[in-house]
Amino acid sequence: MNKKNSIMKIEIKFVLNNELITAEANPTMSLLDFLRNEKHLTAVKSVCREGDCGACSVLIGRFNDGEIKYQSITSCIYPLGNAAGKHIATIEGLNQPGLNFIQYHFAEENAAQCGFCTPGYIISLTAFMLNNSGYNYEEAEKAVAGNVCRCTGYGSIKRALHNMTDEMSVSSEDYNQRLKTLIDKKVIPEYFSAIPQMLENIAHDKVDVESEIVIGGGTDLYVQKPDELHTLSPLFIEKSRLDYIKESADSIIIGGGTTFEEIAGSEIINKFFPSFKKDSVLIASRLIRNVATLAGNIVNASPIGDMTIIFLALNAELKLKINETERTVPIRNFYLGYKNIDKEPMEIIEEIIIPKPSGNVKFNFEKVSKRTHLDIASVNSSILIETNNGTIVNAGISAGGVAPVPKYLEKTSVFLIGKEISNNVVLAASESAMDEITPIDDVRGSAEYKKLLLGQLIKAHFAELFPEKINIGELI
Ligand SMILES: Cc1cc2nc3c(=O)[nH]c(=O)nc-3n(C[C@H](O)[C@H](O)[C@H](O)COP(=O)(O)OP(=O)(O)OC[C@H]3O[C@@H](n4cnc5c(N)ncnc54)[C@H](O)[C@@H]3O)c2cc1C
Ligand code: FES
Ligand code: FES
Repeated sequence: MNKKNSIMKIEIKFVLNNELITAEANPTMSLLDFLRNEKHLTAVKSVCREGDCGACSVLIGRFNDGEIKYQSITSCIYPLGNAAGKHIATIEGLNQPGLNFIQYHFAEENAAQCGFCTPGYIISLTAFMLNNSGYNYEEAEKAVAGNVCRCTGYGSIKRALHNMTDEMSVSSEDYNQRLKTLIDKKVIPEYFSAIPQMLENIAHDKVDVESEIVIGGGTDLYVQKPDELHTLSPLFIEKSRLDYIKESADSIIIGGGTTFEEIAGSEIINKFFPSFKKDSVLIASRLIRNVATLAGNIVNASPIGDMTIIFLALNAELKLKINETERTVPIRNFYLGYKNIDKEPMEIIEEIIIPKPSGNVKFNFEKVSKRTHLDIASVNSSILIETNNGTIVNAGISAGGVAPVPKYLEKTSVFLIGKEISNNVVLAASESAMDEITPIDDVRGSAEYKKLLLGQLIKAHFAELFPEKINIGELI
């Protein structure tokens, strides 16, 4: 790496559309800027530059076990350095003689008006078709949840999705067979079948410099300090492949670089926390969830970080590492004050470890925001409750948006232990939670509103988890 006038350049190898390239560039440059300014691939649009609109979506493919997992991501907040070793495809790389399958259906329904959002839609739908073997309208709609059309062409976009999924409802479970079907149907160009071989041949060079900033998915950093990033040497978590979820006899261990979408799709997580998959759609958009990491959410230390609130209730421990020194900190002790955490700047969260639920354990997450989807919380809350013969033997409750830090409600959690679940106990827990917090007035709501909201969320937790014991009508 040459470090000249604080702007460094390194060689980054990846496959861009159908070509293996070596970019000599600043690895903290956004992928969007590289694609548009250096490669003149202008189908990738630059609009909000904050991950909110999806106009800059590109397809990223990561090679794993002989096949490539494709996802759509927002390139405006994606570090170029994280593209190393991957396949990046833009609309230019999906074009074929005439229109491709998805473009055809958009054109047939006039689903492109000004066309600014259209490339992003085509990219997200291509990822959807590459990653699934069965296609239905509902799933196609979820796949484009982070793509916004300012012309309100939603009616025609919806019709295009219906037509697409009606025309092609199944593909193959087998990856190679699916690629062949998608090529035959003109969803993707033929060169996609050669990509696994191309990626296998790329060496994964380790960047050996003294790093100044840790970058996970970049979804927070590229919104908060995009300019400052250009002058810093990065440590990319992506290179350490901390993207795993495993279980031991008594724990579930999640690598710090695991993305929200990987957690939502994990068999282990779904086995122990079946509601998690449904809850995850309340967090950001799929475009962001494909990239945002669990450790990034925890270190971000936002008082309303959704994953943080969930892992506070789950009593997670954080395994931190710097050089060869390791230590473990309970997440409940990690937050010292507003955006003040028990971590050295270059210490990384290698793993997040949660106790494996045993016995009669139930978990729930609630989030209230101005919009149901694609919005940050006004107040959010999680609960983990273990009962034995109807008596609570273990409880963990957390709440966001009610204090300068993501808040563990210790007093209310302790209050619940030894109690039998009843309307009166839930009412008392709700009062206790409201007493335990000190929210402030802000754009998400007044302090009084947030207190009330948390009280209601405590009731909602119990109504959701114990409908046979709780009469919600009597609690409101
Ligand atoms: C459009 C949009 C919508 C969003 N919606 C939501 C939402 O609904 N709910 C929500 O909670 N958040 C939301 N976010 C915020 C963001 O996606 C999350 O905070 C995300 O988890 C950050 O993870 P990251 O890997 O992208 O972090 P980065 O941006 O890479 O890093 C964030 C911080 O964590 C540090 N860091 C990253 N990885 C590690 C590691 N392994 N060890 C140590 N330090 C590390 C970085 O140095 C930095 O300080 C949204 C963001 C965007 C852009
Ligand atoms: S430009 Fe809007 S999400 Fe990237
Ligand atoms: S067609 Fe214009 S933004 Fe969607």
